[in-house]
Amino acid sequence: MDIDWWKDAVIYQIYPRSFFDHSGDGMGDLQGIIDKLDYLSSLGVDALWISPFYPSPAFDGGYDVSEYCDIDPVFGTMADFDQLLEESHSRGLKVIIDLVPNHTSWSHAWFKEALGDSPGSRARSRYVFRYSQNPPNNWGSMFGGSAWSRVQELTGKAEDRDWWYLHLFSSQQPDLNWGNPDVQEFFLDILGFWLDKGVDGFRVDVAHGLIKNPAFPDDKLGLERWEYADANGPYSNQPYYDQDRVHEIYRSWRHLCNRYNPPRMMVGEVWVRPRERASAYARPDEMHQVFNFDFLHCPFDYRLLRQIITESLRVDGAVGAPSTWVLANHDQLRARTRLGYPAGAMLERGIGAGDPQPDWEIGLLRARAALLLMLALPGSAYIFQGEELGLPDFTMMDDAARRDPTWERTNHQVRGRDSSRVPLPWSTGRPNYGFSDAKPWLPQPSDWDDLTVENQEKDADSTLCLYRESLRLRKEWQLGSGSLTWDNAPTRVLAFHNGQLHCWVNTSILPVNLPPGSQVILSSTGHPESPDAVNCSVGNSATSGSSPVLEPNVTMWFTRVDK
Ligand code: NOJ
Repeated sequence: MDIDWWKDAVIYQIYPRSFFDHSGDGMGDLQGIIDKLDYLSSLGVDALWISPFYPSPAFDGGYDVSEYCDIDPVFGTMADFDQLLEESHSRGLKVIIDLVPNHTSWSHAWFKEALGDSPGSRARSRYVFRYSQNPPNNWGSMFGGSAWSRVQELTGKAEDRDWWYLHLFSSQQPDLNWGNPDVQEFFLDILGFWLDKGVDGFRVDVAHGLIKNPAFPDDKLGLERWEYADANGPYSNQPYYDQDRVHEIYRSWRHLCNRYNPPRMMVGEVWVRPRERASAYARPDEMHQVFNFDFLHCPFDYRLLRQIITESLRVDGAVGAPSTWVLANHDQLRARTRLGYPAGAMLERGIGAGDPQPDWEIGLLRARAALLLMLALPGSAYIFQGEELGLPDFTMMDDAARRDPTWERTNHQVRGRDSSRVPLPWSTGRPNYGFSDAKPWLPQPSDWDDLTVENQEKDADSTLCLYRESLRLRKEWQLGSGSLTWDNAPTRVLAFHNGQLHCWVNTSILPVNLPPGSQVILSSTGHPESPDAVNCSVGNSATSGSSPVLEPNVTMWFTRVDK
């Protein structure tokens, strides 16, 4: 039994409401995932991470949980989940579920009880209530506006007039008070419930946010977090993030995960700088790994990529954790979109129809090149559903269709994350690209016929084909468990080898030659641009006399024959 499977795994993220709709109500569901398990296993991934499917009023796409040990009827039943787990396992796929411990939904029984009870009660002490005439401090919600709402708005009670509750996200997501032992025990029970069912691990939401600075000081962002993000990117170390005591929580969870055979894993969503502080969440007695958001946000630039990869391996290695690599998720623009803009473009507010649009062709070229880079690196990699199709964001989505709470909470200043959450296109010529017989919960663009799974399966040069082939080769060459050595290369080419496999990424605007005697194994373009580059479906190529050409925005995997 491979108990360390997560160290070099490729994990596929499913955002269930947009994956595949089995029931025909316009919303993806658990049976829809089961229908597509063969597709997922043919892709060559090792594990699935499934975003929340728990009962929820879905003000934040299910990250507002009202019952932690159940299934929302829109997704199916617990029997469906059990079947999904069993059928995934029978195909050799592990299953990681999403755990949301920073906040509950405002519809959770605990929060309702808290509202019904009086200030100072045990029920209220499970959340973060504060007494003050004005908002207790200047903290802003991650989705815009204040992070505090008046309790009286919900209860209507006179005694609640100067009471506030904290919600780092939307007002429908009250923050839990992790200083309270009730909360700690409650979550150990929730973990135990799912572990007993046999899940292989957890993705821990907002893992850095559970403990707040007990003095509740003002922060340096106030309500202007978007202006900060425009200038500095998405990170900000704040008094509600990365407090030292948060680590105690993960130690107790690790202890529990280790009691199972094989031990179960945890991956943390940790938005923390500097990198050492993020890796601290992946120390041997805490979580097993954390997402590498520096890599996700890195422009297509050899120097920055090299710096981030080197740092990640060094810092994660120092705590004995594998580095992780990720290009996209349900909170970010898709790689094709992001990499279709010049470095430095301000993308934090999302993209709308009136904004400058990316160069989709360059975006796709680079997204494919970035995939081969990512998969050649040692460690584990995360793929977001639809990435394997080279999907763009739906940047032209009608604003009226948006569901992300950010859009309303920022008074239409920040579009948010809907553009990457569009339901997947499965087949060509079917209503809604075969995602559902009913109108999908979010609209799909009208020009995705070429991008469907059905279409790409017929096309050996497709992005889907490239994913399958590169995942197969990654396994064959054992790249995930290998190690990286940087190589010399022409300027603006990122060059390294992992075992016998060499990887060159051309981030310049000029073609370069691979070293003489190179034998190309795979090119991110998937079609020959020199006699030695190969079609992604073909596999190994023969060596010839001339050295292969590496075009701009292309990655090649090759071996070297010593002459
Ligand atoms: C991070 C999740 O990925 C995101 O989708 C969600 O809105 C927030 N955490 C709040 O739970």
